[in-house]
Amino acid sequence: MAAGKGTRMKSARPKVLHRLAGRSLLQHVIDAAASLQAQRTVVVTGHGAEQIEAAFADAGLAFVRQEPQLGTGHAVQQAAPQLHDEGTTLILNGDVPLIEPDTLARLVHACGGQALALLTVVLDDPSGYGRVIRSGDAVGGTVEGIVEHKDATPAQRRIQEVYTGVMAAPTAHLKRWLAALKNDNAQKEYYLTDVVAMAVADRVRVVATHAHDETEVLGVNSPAQLAELERRFQRRIAERLMDDGVRLADPARLDVRGELVCGQDVEIDVGCVFEGRVELDDNVRIESHCVLRNVRIEANALVRSFTHVDGERAGARIGRGAEIGPFSRLRPGADLGENVHIGNFVEVKNSTLGKGAKANHLAYLGDATVGERVNYGAGSITANYDGAYKHRTVIGDDVHVGSNCVLVAPLTIGAGATVGAGSTLSKDAPAGQLTVARAKAVAIPGWTRPVKAKK
Ligand code: UD1
Ligand code: CA
Repeated sequence: MAAGKGTRMKSARPKVLHRLAGRSLLQHVIDAAASLQAQRTVVVTGHGAEQIEAAFADAGLAFVRQEPQLGTGHAVQQAAPQLHDEGTTLILNGDVPLIEPDTLARLVHACGGQALALLTVVLDDPSGYGRVIRSGDAVGGTVEGIVEHKDATPAQRRIQEVYTGVMAAPTAHLKRWLAALKNDNAQKEYYLTDVVAMAVADRVRVVATHAHDETEVLGVNSPAQLAELERRFQRRIAERLMDDGVRLADPARLDVRGELVCGQDVEIDVGCVFEGRVELDDNVRIESHCVLRNVRIEANALVRSFTHVDGERAGARIGRGAEIGPFSRLRPGADLGENVHIGNFVEVKNSTLGKGAKANHLAYLGDATVGERVNYGAGSITANYDGAYKHRTVIGDDVHVGSNCVLVAPLTIGAGATVGAGSTLSKDAPAGQLTVARAKAVAIPGWTRPVKAKK
């Protein structure tokens, strides 16, 4: 169900498209459902339907529109024609992102194609939620219904076991119950929760499965709640990493918005953001405030503060023992070999650097193949783009490129060559020689500096 407005988000974006740990809320829910290998996944949209459908256009989902939104029961009514009678229907909320696949599997198992299975949780403060009514007063009593907060008596409001909004039901029964829903309640809505009393009347068994903890059933209604869930989610990731031996300077100052895979003795300082898939091999050390996206960092490498790596689709690699940063920028296709050094304000894109190559200050390497042990001087750049096409620069092993050179591609610099500082090269430089391409210095005797006329 993803038709609700999300008024309290105060945003033009539909609520379920807001992001948590780099994925939309709805994506989290769909991923959890996908873990159960559902035959079909039907998304009920209403507010912002076009945006939601566009965001999930290639996800193999079915969409149904609910307009206007007359309640959760009405929402599921719209999806009913899409559901096979023989199956089990699992109903999820698009704005409850941290639901665990394992909990859903337990719920579907509890349903077993026969019973109506409700996911419930006991809360210290149950206000606002639908209360689970059981026979007798014991928590072990059989479930008789759910009463919405607004319709509950003071005695019912004291019940702490609440319905989480997630249920699994035999589809044929569910369809029958949905068709019989009425809206004679405080909110004049068609409540999905009314199916519980119908099941009881039909002598269909109703079972309640408890969620692991409160976090997995918390919904997002406001920016504050979104931020709160983000922190709880990040805390879970940080704890998992620390359990595996990763040393985090501060688990509260880590953001993983994708998949972070770590080897042994990895250290991560504060304020780092990991996006996409990032692999850190043994003994990798990441200093503070780095942004790392889609990159593999091999053993013993050191990434110093304020480094930005974005491998995008092509990916990026930082080789064994390499040292990057502070303030380095690696872009897609940066492939750095063993012991490469990249220093401050150096940008590398779609370039391979051989073992031991160094570019330590203020430089650009784009579309280049750089040999082993090359020293690439401060301020030097590959001029790889002619306005229409990109061209490659090939720099052989042991080349020394002086400071402030412009290497106009396509260009090859032979192994062992030296390029004099300040050279602009547009022709290949031969191996083993010094090539200089700059105006000779001229000293003009007797020249005087202009001076301002005195008044
Ligand atoms: C619902 C439950 C309540 C439960 C709570 C848990 C009902 C009647 N009540 O209440 O028992 O404790 O969830 O969070 O089901 N939606 C639609 N179309 C609509 C109305 C809602 O798609 O017409 C979607 C919303 O976008 C949301 C979900 O259904 O994803 C839940 O709706 P919400 O209004 O938050 O339900 P509650 O009143 O909180
Ligand atoms: Ca709600």
